[in-house]
Amino acid sequence: MGVIKCIGILTSGGDAPGMNAAIRAVTRAAIYNGLKVKGIYRGYKGLVTGEIKEFKSQDVSNIIQLGGTILKTARCQEFMTYEGRQVAYDNMKKEEIDALVVIGGDGSLTGARIFAQEFDVPCIGLPGTIDNDLYGTDTTIGYDTALNTILDAVDKIRDTATSHERLFFVEVMGRDAGFLALNGAIASGAEAAIIPECSTEVDQLEEFIKNGFRKSKNSSIVLVAESEITGGAMHLAERVKNEFPEYDVRVTILGHLQRGGSPSAHDRILASRLGAASIDAIMEDQRNVMIGIEHDQIVYIPFSKAIKKDKPINKDLVNVLKELSI
Ligand code: F6P
Repeated sequence: MGVIKCIGILTSGGDAPGMNAAIRAVTRAAIYNGLKVKGIYRGYKGLVTGEIKEFKSQDVSNIIQLGGTILKTARCQEFMTYEGRQVAYDNMKKEEIDALVVIGGDGSLTGARIFAQEFDVPCIGLPGTIDNDLYGTDTTIGYDTALNTILDAVDKIRDTATSHERLFFVEVMGRDAGFLALNGAIASGAEAAIIPECSTEVDQLEEFIKNGFRKSKNSSIVLVAESEITGGAMHLAERVKNEFPEYDVRVTILGHLQRGGSPSAHDRILASRLGAASIDAIMEDQRNVMIGIEHDQIVYIPFSKAIKKDKPINKDLVNVLKELSI
């Protein structure tokens, strides 16, 4: 691959608040550094179908405050095949795109990694997912906003939970990670969080019933991370109804509302820094790395690490939640 003159940018997988701020940052930083930018629509799908448009600075005006992604997003089956990736590569060549910036979660970065290896294309990843499950960055774009959305919802649920003296199970997203559930529980003053990271150690539900709900509380809120490992909020509620019929149990599944909304200040700043750093990385001839921020410093993490290594939950937080929910 010769000198990089033009970069392509795409968003892929589940959208996350702050993706637009990242698109803006990548575009503006690229133009500032004399590079051409092309927006690729609908994730890898747009690379396969050739839905590509040149972006000027004004194409990304007034988007920093918007949730979702102006580039749209998709999970593309064709790109999962070699033939699909070959078509994508041919389109890249046709459009004279020399390098890609991919904003998305682990599935999207896995796609970038395979594509980069097969076709020797420089790819830079930005962590964009509400799940916060990418190794090598303190937080991912969208996570903070989703957390704040959860707080808004749980604050409201608490009003009705208290009035009716009920036990609420509130299911939050996160795929197989418990960051939203655990930190959401601490920040909302919930009584417990049921997360996949702790599920093999103890029966979290039983522990909560014994230590939390039974002793002193008339109403309780438990945040449950969606995941096959926890079984989800419905499953836990059914268990409680069977084992403790005296409790008045309700379930709220927050669902996709957690993915929407205007990005928080944290996510806008994170996306802006990561977007600008992606262009620095390209100019430094970096390839096949995800850009992260750890301890306020920009870091480059090889795709293999960002995707494959499990980002650990801070177990201190589990103890803080336990201590504060007496
Ligand atoms: O990865 C982001 C995420 O919102 C997960 O938390 C959730 O499990 C999944 O995407 C939902 O995906 P979809 O929008 O395709 O239903």
